Amino acid sequence: MPDISTTYMGLKVKSPIIAASSGLTNSLDDIKAIEKAGAGAVVLKSLFEEEIVTEMERDLKKMHSENYLYPETMDYYESFDVENTLSDYLKLITDCKKEVGIPVIASINCITSHNWTSYARTLQDAGADGIELNIYVLPSDTERHTKDNEHVYFDIVEAVLKEVNIPVSIKISHYFSNLADVISRLSKTGIAGLTLFNRFYSPDIDVDNLEVIPTHIFSQEHEYTMPLRWIAITSDRTACDLAATTGIHESRTIIKMLLAGAKVVHIASALYKNGIESIERYNHELDKWMQKHDFKTLDDFRGSLSQSKAVNPAGYLRVQFMKHFSQK
Ligand SMILES: Cc1cc2nc3c(=O)[nH]c(=O)nc-3n(C[C@H](O)[C@H](O)[C@H](O)COP(=O)(O)O)c2cc1C
Repeated sequence: MPDISTTYMGLKVKSPIIAASSGLTNSLDDIKAIEKAGAGAVVLKSLFEEEIVTEMERDLKKMHSENYLYPETMDYYESFDVENTLSDYLKLITDCKKEVGIPVIASINCITSHNWTSYARTLQDAGADGIELNIYVLPSDTERHTKDNEHVYFDIVEAVLKEVNIPVSIKISHYFSNLADVISRLSKTGIAGLTLFNRFYSPDIDVDNLEVIPTHIFSQEHEYTMPLRWIAITSDRTACDLAATTGIHESRTIIKMLLAGAKVVHIASALYKNGIESIERYNHELDKWMQKHDFKTLDDFRGSLSQSKAVNPAGYLRVQFMKHFSQK
């Protein structure tokens, strides 16, 4: 029987399949089902930096409420139910730690390193085994220099690593002008994992109603080729674990990501589409494929088709279609 266990961010995981941060990782019942189906770990639904900052500011104002001058601002903060959001989140972590055996990775959506990073320690104290920072900077500001956008990532990592001693990973998009260089430099900051790539909400246009509307909330299968290429190109040059996410809907795609050099995969859309129990099938199909190829452990084949090891490494760098594909 092949061994499909591995480590991710220094944590022991019994499968390379991780339940990605989503609405399916927000309740104890679903997380128990995720464990039962055989996932290696779970990344909780993200808290937003804004929720943390709002709660911290409200606490600060309560502390000074005797000479508090702007009660209307207080009312404004009172209207947010962030207090419950944060306490529910901490409770979810402690409940998981009591009732679930797989590693539980807390998650924060963030865009700055300001005011919230000390909260990472609260997540650690609640029992989180690791923290994933979903840094979602859309480089859309023409007045802002590329370097300033990049700095945000390094600043956040530095601030959070000062607060915690549990492993920290970051989840990034592909919106960088020199992606391989940024991935390589980020991997050397002391983070334990790098998740490639987050999938942003994408806009579309409704030509009948002349409106901007969201496109598919769930990924499409063909989207896996973007993380596959960049994992293959960077996996031999990174100093931390790589996790693949986006478009992983089938066990064959999981295998491709591992061949490209990913330590694990994070799956969301396929769990919505096929059910949490599909993790069991993915594990089984991975196991069968390993038996067929006589691989005993994931390390026997992981990264064997990365860019530097593949027989045709140029395949990952090709950007133009060859003539006979594009012309009839
Ligand atoms: C409904 C839904 C909610 C999500 N919420 C979060 C979130 O809170 N934080 C986060 O980092 N990613 C979130 N994601 C992104 C997923 O974790 C994942 O990276 C992305 O969907 C790509 O993987 P997939 O193709 O398997 O869906 C969400 C995805 C979906 C579909």
